[in-house]
Amino acid sequence: MSSEQIPLAKPVLGEAEERAAVEVLRSGQLSLGPRLAEFERAFAARLGAPFASAVSSGTAGLHLALRAVGVQDGDEVITSPFSFVASANAVVFERARPVFADIDPRTLNLDPQAAAAAVSARTRALLPVHIFGYPADMEAFEALAARNGLGIAEDACEALGARHGDGREVGARGNPAVFGFYANKQLTTGEGGIVTLADLETKERIDSERNQGRSPDMGWLDHDRLGFNYRLSDIACAIGLAQLQRLEEMLEGRRRVAALYREALGGHDGLTLPCETLGSERRGWFVFVVQLPRGADRDEAVRALAARGVQSKPYLPAIHLMSFYRERYGHREGEFPVCEDVAARSIALPFFPQMSEGQVDRVASELRAVLAGAPA
Ligand SMILES: Cc1ncc(COP(=O)(O)O)c(C=O)c1O
Repeated sequence: MSSEQIPLAKPVLGEAEERAAVEVLRSGQLSLGPRLAEFERAFAARLGAPFASAVSSGTAGLHLALRAVGVQDGDEVITSPFSFVASANAVVFERARPVFADIDPRTLNLDPQAAAAAVSARTRALLPVHIFGYPADMEAFEALAARNGLGIAEDACEALGARHGDGREVGARGNPAVFGFYANKQLTTGEGGIVTLADLETKERIDSERNQGRSPDMGWLDHDRLGFNYRLSDIACAIGLAQLQRLEEMLEGRRRVAALYREALGGHDGLTLPCETLGSERRGWFVFVVQLPRGADRDEAVRALAARGVQSKPYLPAIHLMSFYRERYGHREGEFPVCEDVAARSIALPFFPQMSEGQVDRVASELRAVLAGAPA
């Protein structure tokens, strides 16, 4: 057996990022410098979005995007229980209530019909999540929002590089859409995020709220609204610019590794692989998550893979069954059966653009051995 440890994720960083960061360090202007606007413009242009506001994390971006679509104390926001916890948490930040609806068993995204059934007189907005980089059915959500006078914010934290069937990039439909730049993402700045936007007014609001509520034409000490410190440093923006230069190559690397996994794992009885896209849709590959056969012990499989030198993790746990959400909102098992079934069987395998065919084959063969009950 090979002794090589295969990590879950690994950023692609090189001399360009190093040079970019050092240049900012030498300039002495570490925050609110020229790289911020440069990064925002380049990112927006890459997606075909009119504007973008860079922020300190995807979570910060979600918070400001929800405020921008008018979410307030006492509102309800319909969202997916099959997401990273930050999407629901950001709703709670505003003392609004995340109302979950079940997911589509194929795409694992929020099911538009289930979302429609969850609309109430208190619903203020929809927060679809493009989970695992699969484009959410935005046409259906936009129609639902129009029928009910709702706002939409998109959680695209996992979906850089994804494209809708109509050819538009995820994040370029005009709804505030949030991307995350944590180290496991398609593009990283260490920590960071960005909100893509359709109009200047919303950009100015977000730019102000990320910077303690300061308005652009006022002195340092005057703040005309409540704000936060959600700024992204110029060092991070410079790294982001360097990462944007190699984005196509990194996305292509992820597509290549996904195709290798499909080949290596296809045909395994009972194992559900990430769904294929339809028509001209494109997934922005973020993770390679498989659902184990029913009856397999998922948590034991994670332990057994670790013993064989392969990192993996249960991904994602259902948000409504997390302690905080159970306690605060009284959620219980059985409310969202599709989400709960998928969450109980899902496991993220090592996935990064530089993965070799040999590494993918090794993960696949270790996983097969584990599922067949072979001793470590
Ligand atoms: C779906 C989703 N939403 C939100 C976030 C939060 O992003 P961040 O970790 O940058 O705050 C993440 C990333 O971890 C995510 O995967």
